[in-house]
Amino acid sequence: MAARSIDGVIRRLRERLRADQIATDPADRLVYGYDATWAEGLPEVVVHAESTADVAWVLRIAEEARVPVVPRGGGTGLAGGAVPMEGGICLNLARMNRILEIDPADGIAVAQAGVVTHTLQKAVEAYGLFYPPDPASLYMSTIGGNVATNAGGPRCLKYGVTRDYVLGLEVVIPGGEVLRLGGRVMKDVSGYDLKQLFIGSEGTLGVITEVIVRLLPRPPALGAMAVAFDHLESACEAVVAILSSGVLPLMAELMDRAVMRAVEAFHPWGLPIEAEALLLLAADGEEEAVRADMARMADQVQAFGGRVIRIATDPKSADELWEIRRHASPAIARLAPYKFSEDITVPRSRIPQMARRIQQIAQETGVPIVVYGHIGDGNLHPTLLCNRRDATEMARVAEAAARIFNAALELGGVLSGEHGIGLLKRDFALQALPPLTLEKLWAIKLLFDPNNIMNPGKKLPLLTRTQI
Ligand code: LAC
Ligand code: ZN
Repeated sequence: MAARSIDGVIRRLRERLRADQIATDPADRLVYGYDATWAEGLPEVVVHAESTADVAWVLRIAEEARVPVVPRGGGTGLAGGAVPMEGGICLNLARMNRILEIDPADGIAVAQAGVVTHTLQKAVEAYGLFYPPDPASLYMSTIGGNVATNAGGPRCLKYGVTRDYVLGLEVVIPGGEVLRLGGRVMKDVSGYDLKQLFIGSEGTLGVITEVIVRLLPRPPALGAMAVAFDHLESACEAVVAILSSGVLPLMAELMDRAVMRAVEAFHPWGLPIEAEALLLLAADGEEEAVRADMARMADQVQAFGGRVIRIATDPKSADELWEIRRHASPAIARLAPYKFSEDITVPRSRIPQMARRIQQIAQETGVPIVVYGHIGDGNLHPTLLCNRRDATEMARVAEAAARIFNAALELGGVLSGEHGIGLLKRDFALQALPPLTLEKLWAIKLLFDPNNIMNPGKKLPLLTRTQI
């Protein structure tokens, strides 16, 4: 890549884009070298796309010149996926932020990739409709970014992840061709379902420019409770018991004591910081059903020694509980110079074992590890606190991270449930993917992106046979 010159590329970009759509000044590019991790890069040029035609133009030029393109939504990723490690073009989709249509009759919304997820949720709620996926970053992250990472969130326990709501996509592939995949129908078996490949592809196949999502009727009632536990493991066992008892909570979220303390230091919510763990549980649906689910969940947690410390019966106070939970990641960021957020997911019956293994690994390696996450999905975010400038410490952190990944794999789990593989987990993925699977993944990648210009170095570990 070193020999190419970006100047010719910039000249070509200018043929069809306005000056204010192209940033070349280092000061204007700097911020596009980061996401929400410690990874750092610097794009050689930033393009602010305003239409699918702009994106197509960029991908035509980039393919001709073999220049890397890193698509970017809100830049809130937790795996280094949007960090341009090889320079090239940062393709910012933030200006493509129009909701094109909300159609209650078809039960769909059509949005440009750069629409902020929370904006989309509020817009459909005005029609009495509901878009469930709710990543903690929803005030900043975009629907295109959510689709590109197949984002999750607390409500995904009951309603499923972003993938479960995508009916159609418009994508642009290297060379500038535009594909429309899927559509506004609820069922579709024509051809292979190519849109599924783009969901969670982390910008490695092409650029998502438009999304058609399926909407549900907005549930009328909501209830939530916060439960304190003296033992983290009891909280985990209580969740397994609830999930096996015939209740499907809207959410089941966990925070350990260290996370509670961090969140409390961020804003004094009055959390039970003397307890070892906090569970946040919620139910939605018809009022009667919510009342019944809340009562059953309260019985279950009490049987495991949980103390219900707060109950919310209206959407506003329930949302306040989620607001507390959404602050976990930013609050933890203040505990140490750096953090490495893991995102392992295990079959839910294995949650208590996984929690125990994490505690053991923290003790044995001496790395402070705080734990929170979507416990009902078996999806935990053990977060390793560290100082990246200290090499000895970082060696221990690498060991602890590898041991957590291994423990998850041993328990039948995966490396990442919702954040993606990006850059930071790429090499660990080698262990998780059988060689033949990896070979097929590369074959798909190269089918859409034969010159590996789309977000190179991300998501797929290198395979010597197909390495380019
Ligand atoms: C959360 C993000 C970090 O669950 O996934 O808060
Ligand atoms: Zn999460």
